[in-house]
Amino acid sequence: MEKKQKIILDCDPGHDDALALLLAARHPSLELLAITTVAGNQTVEKTTRNALSVCTLARIREVPVAKGMAQPLVREARYAADIHGESGLDGPPLPLPEREAVSEHAVDVIIDLVRSTDDVVLIATGPLTNVASAITREPTILSRLKGIYLMGGAIGLGNVTPAAEFNIYFDPEAAAIVFNSGCPITMIPLEVTHQALATPAVMERLRSLGRPVPAFVCQLLDFFGTTYRRVFGFAAPPVHDPCAVAALIEPTLINMHRMYVAVETRGEYTLGRTVCDVYGVLGRRANARVGYGLDAARFWELLIETLASYEAVASGVGAAEQK
Ligand code: BDR
Ligand code: CA
Repeated sequence: MEKKQKIILDCDPGHDDALALLLAARHPSLELLAITTVAGNQTVEKTTRNALSVCTLARIREVPVAKGMAQPLVREARYAADIHGESGLDGPPLPLPEREAVSEHAVDVIIDLVRSTDDVVLIATGPLTNVASAITREPTILSRLKGIYLMGGAIGLGNVTPAAEFNIYFDPEAAAIVFNSGCPITMIPLEVTHQALATPAVMERLRSLGRPVPAFVCQLLDFFGTTYRRVFGFAAPPVHDPCAVAALIEPTLINMHRMYVAVETRGEYTLGRTVCDVYGVLGRRANARVGYGLDAARFWELLIETLASYEAVASGVGAAEQK
């Protein structure tokens, strides 16, 4: 068997982050070294608790969870309660976490792991505050990292403003640091994730598995589907974040093009926009691989197969609710 790819998942659960976590923790080609949390969809207290609840539900016991940055680098936080609810993970009853976050700060955990472990890939599915902070505090990690896979940005339309996608808009200064860092970046934008739709057929497949983890995912997606319908008019919700994990697991799942990407940090209407120089007109050296097309059928095969592989959870999911 091939050597497992060591990864760190930096996230802000978040319904689709929960799916990314479940995929990252379980896929046989990956070794998840740590889950680090950041403010984004909700406060960092809530996203950390949500990560721990998901770990409890899925019996992910060996992977440390570390709490990270509570605020964007220079701006006010603007959470996404309209999409993810007041808890950040509204919908299903969440189990009380059976463990706590480690005492180390997420930024220190990222720095220490990258310094001590060769060829780590950092997967970021929330705002890039932790990642930028780690790079700024310890720039030597840049040459040690194998790469950064991030869900964020858009080539065209944004979702939180007409120009910007949520993760980048939440902390554009952090995103600019990451894109300018020189580290190999794989950007999974909205153009890709809007192809990963949890359609009724997908939901039926998940439900028919008759297992607790896929059933929990269905409850998450029911809530997510309702908010996506209300806010964006989508018929089915896009599961953004697991696309970034899937891109690493199966490199041919998403078409990629190399290009220069700048992050707008000043625009009146365009703050947080990822300016993707598709035609190379700026004459700048490419700093990212940007995803375009997704093989949605293969994506769902991968995700459903992985979710189905979770053991049944013993004691009463939903018995001890946190909300
Ligand atoms: C991104 O924003 C968040 O609400 C989701 O978790 C995802 O990471 C999509 O724009
Ligand atoms: Ca997210």
